[in-house]
Amino acid sequence: MKKILVTGGAGFIGSNFCNINKDLYEITALDNLFLGDRDNLDPDVRFIEGNACNLKDLEKVGPVDYVLHLAGTSSAPMFMNEGFVDGYVNSVESFCRTLEWARKNGTKRFCYASTSSLYGNNPMPLMENQHVRPLNHYAVTKEVYEHAGECYNRVYPEMDIVGFRFMSVYGPNEEAKGKFANIISQFAWDMQRDLSPIIYGDGTQFRDFTNVRDVVQGITKAFEHEGQIGADVFNIGTGESSSLNEIVEALKKAFEKDIEAKYIPNPVKEGYIKGQHADISKIQSTLGYEPTVKLADGIKEQVENLRPEKIRQTSSDDFR
Ligand SMILES: NC(=O)c1ccc[n+]([C@@H]2O[C@H](COP(=O)([O-])OP(=O)(O)OC[C@H]3O[C@@H](n4cnc5c(N)ncnc54)[C@H](O)[C@@H]3O)[C@@H](O)[C@H]2O)c1
Repeated sequence: MKKILVTGGAGFIGSNFCNINKDLYEITALDNLFLGDRDNLDPDVRFIEGNACNLKDLEKVGPVDYVLHLAGTSSAPMFMNEGFVDGYVNSVESFCRTLEWARKNGTKRFCYASTSSLYGNNPMPLMENQHVRPLNHYAVTKEVYEHAGECYNRVYPEMDIVGFRFMSVYGPNEEAKGKFANIISQFAWDMQRDLSPIIYGDGTQFRDFTNVRDVVQGITKAFEHEGQIGADVFNIGTGESSSLNEIVEALKKAFEKDIEAKYIPNPVKEGYIKGQHADISKIQSTLGYEPTVKLADGIKEQVENLRPEKIRQTSSDDFR
């Protein structure tokens, strides 16, 4: 069985990856629990509480065949005000430290999270070969990952370095992210408490909402791919988009509750992304990825698995 390290393994995407793949790989989840929760992980997934910026913590893992680097400062608002310096340091240092550790330990393939935020308000559908100009510091860190990964692979071609531009990911295990969680979680937490979800603007803004199980599928396809990949990046999305108004309607159905959204003027003045619609043909043709989870089914499943007692901060209308 192949060995794999998942940094940020107790977080939202990381824990879903570990739990789904625990019988396929011998997995070690490394997480400093900044936004992760040990309880997100199945008890039989090996867990190390540690920092991916810290070589001593990485060395506790032992050699692995693959690395999935998800640790880092995982959303744009975390870089605001006091978070600016620490946000950059945590993301860039954890990436470089883990990359270097992986190569020195003979890792064959290093996969990492980039982001669709890189596209800003580019023309749609969003394609990997578009020129990108990040609108916020969070997206800049991911652009750094992509460039650093490409340079690194030129010097050390023996380790593939593969980035994923995830679209808007939703699904279970987001409670520990609190106010940094996806809008679907935020809305669901509000509606579960019979509160109106708060929409910025008129609710026509749209995202390519992608179920975390499909995200895990895409990443797994990259690890399982035969032959060299080199350094490359792939969108992971569904190729379809839904508006926030449609999300509220789907949640109303799933909860069987008639709660209307509350509309307020959009307080985000700069860098607000109006729409997101991915072109997924590259990952389909190269890795054989196909989205499988229909939005209505994914939302229903999420509603059935909410764990309100685990929400780290109360839901708020910040950062939408
Ligand atoms: N969720 C999305 O929609 C989405 C979209 C695009 C990209 N991403 C990226 O995917 C990755 C995973 O996202 P997520 O939604 O699961 O976020 P998350 O915050 O739940 O996961 C990140 C995990 O990393 C841990 N962590 C942070 N810094 C660490 C460090 N230095 N050492 C060890 N652990 C550390 C946190 O405790 C957390 O558990 C992130 O890099 C994020 O930027 C997420």
